[in-house]
Amino acid sequence: MAPKMPQLKLSLPSLGGLTSRFSLPFMARGEALALGLDIGSHAVKACELQRSGSGYLLKSLGSALMPPDTIEDGALVEPAAVAGVIGNLLGNLGSRNKKVAISVSGYSVIVKKINLRVMSSEELEKHLHEEAEQYIPFDIDDVYLDCQDLHTNTGEDDHTDIMLVAAKKELVDGYLGMLEDLGLETVVVDVDAFALENAFEAAGGPDESAVLVDIGASKMNINIVSGGASALARDVILGGRQLTEQIQRALDISFEEAEEIKLGLTPAPENARQRVEKIVLEACRQWSAEIKRALDFHQTTSPEQAVERIVLSGGGANIAGLADLFSQENNLPTTIFNPFARAVVDQKRIDPAYLRAVAPSMAQAAGLATRLVEF
Ligand SMILES: Nc1ncnc2c1ncn2[C@@H]1O[C@H](COP(=O)(O)OP(=O)(O)OP(=O)(O)O)[C@@H](O)[C@H]1O
Ligand SMILES: [Mg+2]
Repeated sequence: MAPKMPQLKLSLPSLGGLTSRFSLPFMARGEALALGLDIGSHAVKACELQRSGSGYLLKSLGSALMPPDTIEDGALVEPAAVAGVIGNLLGNLGSRNKKVAISVSGYSVIVKKINLRVMSSEELEKHLHEEAEQYIPFDIDDVYLDCQDLHTNTGEDDHTDIMLVAAKKELVDGYLGMLEDLGLETVVVDVDAFALENAFEAAGGPDESAVLVDIGASKMNINIVSGGASALARDVILGGRQLTEQIQRALDISFEEAEEIKLGLTPAPENARQRVEKIVLEACRQWSAEIKRALDFHQTTSPEQAVERIVLSGGGANIAGLADLFSQENNLPTTIFNPFARAVVDQKRIDPAYLRAVAPSMAQAAGLATRLVEF
């Protein structure tokens, strides 16, 4: 049976009708914004925005912890458990918006920038399958495909960069089915790194080249944005969970106890304090080395686009001293991302202290919540 909805609906910021980086896309009658749902392996995050003047109003925001081992490498392993968590979260938020935007990543998702001769969008759509075949390590019939012209051709150059995205149908359909059972309609399936980029743009990201780094529980997304487009996007299978597991092993304790020590909720035993500090420092250095590797690659391939800043998000951004370490090791200023920097917040509904605490980990949910849907 042909899948109902949707193909990947990749939409990079600063394209598709944006007249300038700081203007919002035109919103026609009958259009509204999707409910952003970031289904992470550690926590589900939900965010609902509304357009307000030249910016956004933050309508609702929440997160709920995911039971362990329910999502592996971006794929649903325990759909019923995940559905239960999402159902409760949305019930608590009291949102009536049933149109959701989600994002995917992991082994089953391929993002590749390719260079093709300039074609009309109809022609490109026709050629997409045959063009994509050589870049996708899966059977082309097993993936959803989407692409976006980055319009990099200038003057007489008749070639343009195209961002190609493929995601295994099995992975996407797993999410669609689970959400449909909850009475939700998935109207957008994006890619984590691009959801992050949309959040960066919506927050009025500085008009400069930056490397967006989201450190979650099981992966880090790295996206170098330059001139309003993604220059390099990659996922690395490292994150906060790795830290907890290392502490667990070193101290021979449970995962939950190790997590409490990592979060500073329980002090580490006196004789293990140095070992824990060393584990944290080494993981942070490893993450930093991944950023450096992406920056070096970018520097080699696009030497004219100097990256000026690291923008850090995800739960990992809460680790004390991490931003400073990234700054020192990469010789770049590092800021902790606030996706709601330009949003109006109803302080009666959303506690400012809560918002400050969770904002960096809400980056992808916020990016998804900027996506337009037709009603
Ligand atoms: N203060 C803190 N110190 C250390 N780690 C923290 C802190 N706060 C959150 N974390 C870690 O951040 C991770 C959760 O981050 P986040 O919510 O971004 O993950 P996720 O989106 O669910 O995961 P993923 O995107 O990898 O699937 C967990 O590993 C958690 O322990
Ligand atoms: Mg995440």
